[in-house]
Amino acid sequence: MADLVNLTIDGRAVQVPPQTLVIDAAKTVGIEIPAFCYYEGLTLAAACRMCLVEVEKMPKMMTACTLPVSEGMVVRTETEQVKQARKYTLEFLLTNHPLDCPVCDKGGECELQDMAFRYGAGESRYTEEKVHTPEKQFSPVVFFDAPRCILCFRCVRVCNEGLGVGALGVVNRGVVSEIAPNVGDHLECDECGACIDICPVGALTSGAYRYQTRPWEMVHVGTICTHCGDGCKTTLGTRNDQIIRGNNRDRSGINGEFLCIKGRYAFDFYDHAERLQSPLLRVNGKLEEVSWARALQVVAQRFTETISGGGSFGVIGSNHTSNEENYYLQKFARQVLKTNHIDHHRTGDVLTLLDALSGKTAKLATVSDLYERKAVLVLGADLALEHPLLSYQIRANYRHHQAHVYVVTPEAVREDKYAAAIVRGRDYESLREKLKAEPELVIVFDDSYKGDELRKLVDFAESLGIPVKFICLVDYANSRGAIDMGLTPELLPGYAPSGEAGMHVEEMLEAQLSALWVVGANPFKGGFTRKTNFLVVQDMFLTETAQQADVVLPAASAYEKNGTVTSTSGQVQRLTRAINTMGAKPDLEIMGFIAREMGVAAVLGPWVPETVFAEIRKTVRGYDIAMPVIATGGAAQTMPVNGRIPVELRPDLVQSDHNGLFASGTLGRYSKVLNSVVENRLSR
Ligand code: SF4
Ligand code: SF4
Ligand code: SF4
Ligand code: FES
Repeated sequence: MADLVNLTIDGRAVQVPPQTLVIDAAKTVGIEIPAFCYYEGLTLAAACRMCLVEVEKMPKMMTACTLPVSEGMVVRTETEQVKQARKYTLEFLLTNHPLDCPVCDKGGECELQDMAFRYGAGESRYTEEKVHTPEKQFSPVVFFDAPRCILCFRCVRVCNEGLGVGALGVVNRGVVSEIAPNVGDHLECDECGACIDICPVGALTSGAYRYQTRPWEMVHVGTICTHCGDGCKTTLGTRNDQIIRGNNRDRSGINGEFLCIKGRYAFDFYDHAERLQSPLLRVNGKLEEVSWARALQVVAQRFTETISGGGSFGVIGSNHTSNEENYYLQKFARQVLKTNHIDHHRTGDVLTLLDALSGKTAKLATVSDLYERKAVLVLGADLALEHPLLSYQIRANYRHHQAHVYVVTPEAVREDKYAAAIVRGRDYESLREKLKAEPELVIVFDDSYKGDELRKLVDFAESLGIPVKFICLVDYANSRGAIDMGLTPELLPGYAPSGEAGMHVEEMLEAQLSALWVVGANPFKGGFTRKTNFLVVQDMFLTETAQQADVVLPAASAYEKNGTVTSTSGQVQRLTRAINTMGAKPDLEIMGFIAREMGVAAVLGPWVPETVFAEIRKTVRGYDIAMPVIATGGAAQTMPVNGRIPVELRPDLVQSDHNGLFASGTLGRYSKVLNSVVENRLSR
């Protein structure tokens, strides 16, 4: 190919695009040049000198992390001179570094330890006293131990460039240089932990994880964060049915290694002291612990009696439960309970968007579109707080590709810093000429754009005459999947009209139903008194709704079950059970047991996630996706309808919770980490 550069690295012919750095060119032929300060995606620092290589015709050794390739270049990475340079660099980095890997939290996964083993000297020649400073706590989740720091500035750069926060800097010079937090002695930031994860040594450590275990003692399970709708993959480190840490260092999933505070730390709700571990039954007005057998028997009996007595049912599903659970629940409601009174809390107007896109060229955007497309228009939302991954992707697109970002929001947002144009309010039309000049556009909008407003927006996009894609923001891990799976009275799975009017959430709460079944939702939040005769609630905690139930069935969290969820961008990903919590069961299993107890299991089929998903693939358009993609940790995008949706769409029912970075609906109350950080109290 004419536009590739030819060079030789350690005698091997290499062809790479112009401007490729030697360190990256070497990787393409499997040659690893050791590095500390270099980090893909961040600006170059050339701070550590670990990557020195010999280059023919150059008088001195060069840093491979800053040197672009050139035609005919000859690079050597394993000469005696290079090896000697690495040894000296390590000796220099270790002059003030404690030599106590066995007691350091990073031991076993430390880049400095690995390099010292591979390239370092066998013993230290340094006998002088080292400069010692005590460890500091920057926040409940970020600890800093200055003597271990090798001043690679990865943490400073990831916070500034990656997150757009800039909460870390360097103070002092020379041997007393130190990383310092933004507010005197502490951090006020996103508390995302990216700085800790990216630190190559044990200088930055996590308050939620440090000194609890060693990396090789954990089982690492990749699953999906259950908090917002962005769909970050998180790899949970578990030991003895406990989740000890979350990160995504293998960079699989739609988020690469990005996680916000919720994905990295807020799994901790799972072992909150108030977690339900036994079914509860109301006896003489009080909820009492009973066996699973007794609780299931009561539910099955009351459901069966209600059916035979011609009573009325209402079913409220969840934005957090899996696609399989939502599908099975609506099937249970429609085929066994014979009701269309089934709904959930709608947090974005997906229905109007899909309907309005009918016959248009515009389509749905993925998370990677936010990184790759030339221009992005953000409408309404404060993405950095409400959809951190999407904000991160747009920022990276701007940094790496100089994407044009247009912001139309009521208040100042983080995207303002690099926006091509800012409109305070809602007048996106004033951007028409600028947007028309773009080669392509992704529009991201929140729940303030719904119904006719949203149709107007889609028409506006169409009138620009450029390719446009959309992301309709929804709140939670499976808000989108709940709609796709038919958790609405008007629509069956796959957006087929149900043909029969059913009640919405508010109507069900007000009605004198014979039985109300709430699975993973808290509709009584904010003080509501039940009107139904019989209330069954499946949940992890004794929520306001569960407190008024006749039967409470303890449910497993997303981290304790298998299945799939669909992100705000319509990307289906796999949940993998990381741990088991005693007493709790996945909602799918609970529903299956109720069906079995009622003698209707054969109508609904096996309550096995894989079997239910096989049925979803056949029933829900867009879900007939390549299984190996999601089975191996990837994401498959769905476009579940292509045509008008011939029912009343009820945009008036759409209402986002607008959770910020440190909140997560009812679930967020039970996360110790979310409640411990100062920013939560500053209510950002
Ligand atoms: S926790 Fe996140 S936001 Fe806070 S300093 Fe570290 S990288 Fe920056
Ligand atoms: S704290 Fe870690 S990431 Fe930050 S400069 Fe020091 S060694 Fe590098
Ligand atoms: S951005 Fe959303 S999905 Fe990703 S880690 Fe944060 S809360 Fe979880
Ligand atoms: S990796 Fe090249 S100077 Fe640090």
